[in-house]
Amino acid sequence: MDLRATLVPGLLELKNPIMSAAGTFGSGLEYSPYGDITQLGGIITNGLTLRPCMGSPMPRVAETPSGLLTSIGTQNDGVEHFVRHVLPQLPWQDVPIIPNLNANFVEDFSELAGILAAEPGIAALEVNLSCRNDNRSGQRFNQNTVTAARAVSAVKKAAGSKPVIAKLSPQIMDIVEVARSVEAAGADVISCIGTVQGLAVDVRERRAMLGSITGGLSGPAVKPLALRCVWQISHAVDIPVIGVGGIRTAQDVLEFMLVGAHAVAVGSASFSDPEAIFRIVRELPAVCEEYGVSDLDAFRGSLQG
Ligand SMILES: Cc1cc2nc3c(=O)[nH]c(=O)nc-3n(C[C@H](O)[C@H](O)[C@H](O)COP(=O)(O)O)c2cc1C
Repeated sequence: MDLRATLVPGLLELKNPIMSAAGTFGSGLEYSPYGDITQLGGIITNGLTLRPCMGSPMPRVAETPSGLLTSIGTQNDGVEHFVRHVLPQLPWQDVPIIPNLNANFVEDFSELAGILAAEPGIAALEVNLSCRNDNRSGQRFNQNTVTAARAVSAVKKAAGSKPVIAKLSPQIMDIVEVARSVEAAGADVISCIGTVQGLAVDVRERRAMLGSITGGLSGPAVKPLALRCVWQISHAVDIPVIGVGGIRTAQDVLEFMLVGAHAVAVGSASFSDPEAIFRIVRELPAVCEEYGVSDLDAFRGSLQG
């Protein structure tokens, strides 16, 4: 069965629609002991910043009955370290490598994009629009159609011919309006959703479970929210959508494609089961057969009312 997924013709073509989600798969190398990372549709790497970033106070991870609550704070060694020491080790000729860009100023997004776009080993750039915008009192870029569009437009300008993926969080008034604004600003693809802010507490200790008090909820709890966003956005824009949120099985992949996704990204499932993403890739053809899906392009977006 043909599993290929075209996100941007000639520029971002995947051998299958399954990628790793930002922040949950390291650079990809960390997961090589668990499977062949070149068999993935793409690798969206850990979040990168212009300069090294210490990240959030510990503890950074709390399990809840329905998903994972985390606050990593984009801990990373900075873009120069990634370009010099990590990218050369990645099998970029065999699998698209897509860094995830994080910044608190539009100018920093632009500089990051310029550095990464100059690298032949980079297939595309993903802009994390749920970063705080320090020019707007820490309001997140995608809370506002104007700031979301500004960030995307700056990255697009600096990215040259590299495709730009705009990643949206669902914590905004109208995700469809923001999706339309980033499409108009030049985004080639939209990915959604990022984590949803939550809080987990320990009553005995009267403390929050995370050092940063609040954190991002991911996993099975957010899947219905992600499916709703993908469905709404894919009806509102003409660019492809990558579905992210709570994907653990090949059946979940089909659910996202049914509501309109061109591809998906597997996130926190890789923490509880580092082989999950490889198994999903392996099992997708059989699961397609089980559900009578012989052509993914024809199946995509075929949800009945
Ligand atoms: C520990 C952790 C770190 C993350 N870091 C990033 C990040 O740096 N940039 C980003 O855009 N999304 C980040 N995400 C969000 C994921 O890429 C994904 O959108 C979200 O977790 C929902 O997918 P899931 O339910 O499959 O985990 C992170 C998620 C987790 C759990």
